[in-house]
Amino acid sequence: MKVKKVDIFFLIIGITVLIFLFSAPPQTTPRVPADDIHRDLKDEKRCTECHGKGTNKPLPEKHPNKERCLLCHKRKS
Ligand code: HEC
Ligand code: HEC
Repeated sequence: MKVKKVDIFFLIIGITVLIFLFSAPPQTTPRVPADDIHRDLKDEKRCTECHGKGTNKPLPEKHPNKERCLLCHKRKS
Protein backbone atom coordinates (compact mmCIF):
# COMPACT_ATOMS: atom_id res chain seq x y z
CA MET A 1 0.00 0.00 0.00
CA LYS A 2 1.25 3.41 -0.93
CA VAL A 3 1.26 6.07 1.76
CA LYS A 4 -0.42 9.15 0.45
CA LYS A 5 0.14 12.70 1.61
CA VAL A 6 -3.40 12.87 2.85
CA ASP A 7 -2.81 9.86 5.13
CA ILE A 8 0.09 11.61 6.82
CA PHE A 9 -2.07 14.69 7.17
CA PHE A 10 -4.72 12.77 9.10
CA LEU A 11 -2.10 10.98 11.17
CA ILE A 12 -0.74 14.32 12.31
CA ILE A 13 -4.21 15.58 13.18
CA GLY A 14 -4.83 12.42 15.20
CA ILE A 15 -1.62 12.82 17.17
CA THR A 16 -2.32 16.49 17.81
CA VAL A 17 -5.74 15.67 19.23
CA LEU A 18 -4.24 13.01 21.50
CA ILE A 19 -1.58 15.37 22.83
CA PHE A 20 -4.27 17.95 23.46
CA LEU A 21 -6.39 15.49 25.44
CA PHE A 22 -3.53 14.18 27.54
CA SER A 23 -2.23 17.62 28.41
CA ALA A 24 -5.54 18.81 29.83
CA PRO A 25 -4.97 20.36 33.25
CA PRO A 26 -6.13 18.48 36.34
CA GLN A 27 -9.62 19.34 37.46
CA THR A 28 -9.62 22.56 39.44
CA THR A 29 -13.29 23.42 39.42
CA PRO A 30 -14.24 24.34 42.98
CA ARG A 31 -16.36 21.70 44.65
CA VAL A 32 -19.77 22.30 46.10
CA PRO A 33 -19.31 22.50 49.88
CA ALA A 34 -20.85 19.77 51.98
CA ASP A 35 -22.57 22.20 54.31
CA ASP A 36 -26.20 22.60 55.37
CA ILE A 37 -27.01 24.87 52.43
CA HIS A 38 -25.74 22.59 49.72
CA ARG A 39 -26.05 19.06 51.03
CA ASP A 40 -29.70 18.49 50.17
CA LEU A 41 -29.89 20.93 47.31
CA LYS A 42 -30.49 19.15 44.03
CA ASP A 43 -32.48 21.76 42.17
CA GLU A 44 -30.00 23.61 40.01
CA LYS A 45 -32.46 26.40 39.34
CA ARG A 46 -32.04 27.54 42.92
CA CYS A 47 -28.26 27.96 42.74
CA THR A 48 -28.56 31.40 41.22
CA GLU A 49 -30.67 32.64 44.14
CA CYS A 50 -27.40 32.90 46.02
CA HIS A 51 -24.81 32.82 43.26
CA GLY A 52 -26.40 35.13 40.72
CA LYS A 53 -25.43 38.72 40.01
CA GLY A 54 -25.65 41.02 43.00
CA THR A 55 -25.62 38.28 45.62
CA ASN A 56 -22.89 37.99 48.20
CA LYS A 57 -21.39 34.87 46.63
CA PRO A 58 -21.63 35.74 42.92
CA LEU A 59 -20.09 33.79 40.09
CA PRO A 60 -16.63 34.99 39.07
CA GLU A 61 -16.47 37.49 36.23
CA LYS A 62 -15.34 34.94 33.63
CA HIS A 63 -17.53 32.14 34.87
CA PRO A 64 -18.94 29.91 32.13
CA ASN A 65 -22.56 30.89 32.56
CA LYS A 66 -24.30 27.59 32.12
CA GLU A 67 -27.23 26.12 33.90
CA ARG A 68 -26.04 22.65 34.70
CA CYS A 69 -24.03 23.68 37.73
CA LEU A 70 -23.55 20.19 39.07
CA LEU A 71 -22.01 18.86 35.87
CA CYS A 72 -18.89 20.87 36.60
CA HIS A 73 -19.11 21.38 40.33
CA LYS A 74 -18.86 17.98 41.93
CA ARG A 75 -19.81 17.64 45.54
CA LYS A 76 -17.28 17.44 48.28
CA SER A 77 -17.60 14.06 49.87
C1 HEC B 1 -28.99 29.64 50.22
C2 HEC B 1 -27.91 30.19 49.40
C3 HEC B 1 -27.14 29.26 48.48
C4 HEC B 1 -27.67 28.39 47.55
C5 HEC B 1 -29.14 28.13 47.19
C6 HEC B 1 -26.51 27.78 46.90
N1 HEC B 1 -25.35 28.24 47.45
FE1 HEC B 1 -23.45 27.73 46.89
N2 HEC B 1 -22.68 28.85 48.40
C7 HEC B 1 -23.41 29.69 49.23
C8 HEC B 1 -22.51 30.33 50.17
C9 HEC B 1 -22.92 31.33 51.27
C10 HEC B 1 -21.20 29.83 49.87
C11 HEC B 1 -19.91 30.14 50.59
C12 HEC B 1 -19.70 29.03 51.59
C13 HEC B 1 -18.34 29.06 52.14
O1 HEC B 1 -17.50 29.85 51.71
O2 HEC B 1 -18.09 28.22 53.03
C14 HEC B 1 -21.34 28.92 48.74
C15 HEC B 1 -20.28 28.25 48.14
C16 HEC B 1 -20.39 27.52 46.96
C17 HEC B 1 -19.29 26.95 46.23
C18 HEC B 1 -17.84 26.98 46.62
C19 HEC B 1 -17.25 28.29 46.32
C20 HEC B 1 -15.82 28.32 46.75
O3 HEC B 1 -15.40 29.42 47.08
O4 HEC B 1 -15.15 27.28 46.77
C21 HEC B 1 -19.80 26.32 45.14
C22 HEC B 1 -19.03 25.60 44.05
C23 HEC B 1 -21.23 26.49 45.19
N3 HEC B 1 -21.57 27.22 46.31
C24 HEC B 1 -22.10 25.96 44.27
C25 HEC B 1 -23.47 25.95 44.42
C26 HEC B 1 -24.38 25.20 43.56
C27 HEC B 1 -23.95 24.34 42.38
C28 HEC B 1 -25.64 25.42 44.02
C29 HEC B 1 -26.96 24.81 43.51
C30 HEC B 1 -27.04 23.34 43.59
C31 HEC B 1 -25.54 26.34 45.16
N4 HEC B 1 -24.21 26.62 45.37
C32 HEC B 1 -26.62 26.85 45.87
C33 HEC B 1 -24.77 29.89 49.20
C34 HEC B 1 -25.68 29.17 48.41
C1 HEC C 1 -18.74 24.53 32.38
C2 HEC C 1 -18.43 24.20 33.76
C3 HEC C 1 -19.16 24.99 34.85
C4 HEC C 1 -20.53 25.13 35.00
C5 HEC C 1 -21.65 24.55 34.15
C6 HEC C 1 -20.71 25.91 36.20
N1 HEC C 1 -19.49 26.26 36.73
FE1 HEC C 1 -19.14 27.38 38.41
N2 HEC C 1 -17.14 27.39 38.06
C7 HEC C 1 -16.51 26.67 37.06
C8 HEC C 1 -15.07 26.93 37.13
C9 HEC C 1 -14.02 26.32 36.21
C10 HEC C 1 -14.88 27.83 38.22
C11 HEC C 1 -13.58 28.45 38.68
C12 HEC C 1 -13.46 29.76 37.95
C13 HEC C 1 -12.30 30.56 38.42
O1 HEC C 1 -11.65 30.20 39.41
O2 HEC C 1 -12.06 31.61 37.79
C14 HEC C 1 -16.20 28.10 38.79
C15 HEC C 1 -16.44 28.91 39.88
C16 HEC C 1 -17.66 29.00 40.55
C17 HEC C 1 -17.89 29.69 41.80
C18 HEC C 1 -16.89 30.51 42.58
C19 HEC C 1 -16.02 29.67 43.42
C20 HEC C 1 -15.07 30.56 44.15
O3 HEC C 1 -13.99 30.08 44.47
O4 HEC C 1 -15.41 31.73 44.42
C21 HEC C 1 -19.20 29.53 42.12
C22 HEC C 1 -19.94 30.05 43.37
C23 HEC C 1 -19.80 28.75 41.07
N3 HEC C 1 -18.84 28.44 40.13
C24 HEC C 1 -21.14 28.38 41.03
C25 HEC C 1 -21.78 27.86 39.90
C26 HEC C 1 -23.21 27.81 39.73
C27 HEC C 1 -24.23 28.30 40.77
C28 HEC C 1 -23.44 27.24 38.50
C29 HEC C 1 -24.81 27.01 37.81
C30 HEC C 1 -25.56 28.26 37.53
C31 HEC C 1 -22.16 26.91 37.92
N4 HEC C 1 -21.16 27.34 38.79
C32 HEC C 1 -21.96 26.28 36.71
C33 HEC C 1 -17.13 25.84 36.13
C34 HEC C 1 -18.51 25.71 35.93
